[in-house]
Amino acid sequence: MSKMSDIETQLKNWIPSPFQDAAKNLAKDAIKQFVKQENNQVIGLGSGPMATEIVREMKDGVKNKKTIECIATSFQIKLEAQYSGLKVVDESRIPEIDVVFDGADEIDSKYNMIKGGGGALLKEKIVHLAAKKVVIAAESKKFAETFSWPVPIEVSPFAVSIVIKELEQKAEGRPKLRMLNEGYPYVTENGNFILDTGFDFSATNDIRKKEVELKSIPGVVEVGLFTRHANVYYKANADGSFETIEV
Ligand code: 5RP
Repeated sequence: MSKMSDIETQLKNWIPSPFQDAAKNLAKDAIKQFVKQENNQVIGLGSGPMATEIVREMKDGVKNKKTIECIATSFQIKLEAQYSGLKVVDESRIPEIDVVFDGADEIDSKYNMIKGGGGALLKEKIVHLAAKKVVIAAESKKFAETFSWPVPIEVSPFAVSIVIKELEQKAEGRPKLRMLNEGYPYVTENGNFILDTGFDFSATNDIRKKEVELKSIPGVVEVGLFTRHANVYYKANADGSFETIEV
C-alpha cells in the first residue's frame, strides 16, 4: 500500500481559473464564521474542489483540531481531511452534524441546487439533511436563472434499463450513462451507476416536485436535485472577491 506521502502528491489543485483566489478567500471566511472550536463541532464535508479548498484551509486555520470531528462524503474528501490533520469519524455521528461545507454544480434563482458532478450525491444529501447549517461555495458562473445542467441520478445497476425507459417516457428526461474515459461505466462508492439526465427546466417551476417524482422511480437511489436551501451561499467572483447570500 502507498504511504500517505505518495498519495499526497497526487491530490489535485482543481479550482478552475480565474476563481482560485476567491475560493481561498471565501474558505478562510467560512472557517472563521462557522467553525466554533469551543463547541466540539461535528462538521460534514461535501466532495469536490470547493469542499477541498475549505478542508485545506482548515489545515492551518483550525488551531486545535482535536475539538472537531469530520464526516466525509467520499474517499476523495476523506483523503484531503486526513492530509489536513482532521479527525474523520464514522456515520454514527451524522445526526450530530453542526455544519456542512459543500460545493454545487449549478444553483438556480430560487437557490435550488444540482449536485453530484463528482458522484457523491447520496452521501452529500444525507449530510445536508442532518446538518444544522449548510454552507455552499460556488463560482459565480454556476448561479443561473434556471437549470441547464443534466441532473445526476444514482441508479442501481439492476434497474438501469428500466429507469432509462421511465425517465425518457414518463419524466421527459434525456438520460446518459456516465462513463469513464476508459470506456467503463462510472461506479459510485455505493456500487451504483449515474444517469446524467437533461430536463427542460424552463417548463418546470416546482423543483421539489420533480425531485420527489424522480426519487419515486424504483431503482433510483438518489437524485442530484437539492431543494433544501443552504443557510449561506458563498459566490466566488473572478476578481478574487466573494459575496455571501443568506436565504
Ligand atoms: C460532488 C458534488 C460537488 O459538490 C459538485 O460537483 C461541485 O463541485 P465544485 O463546486 O467544488 O466544483 O456534488 O458530488
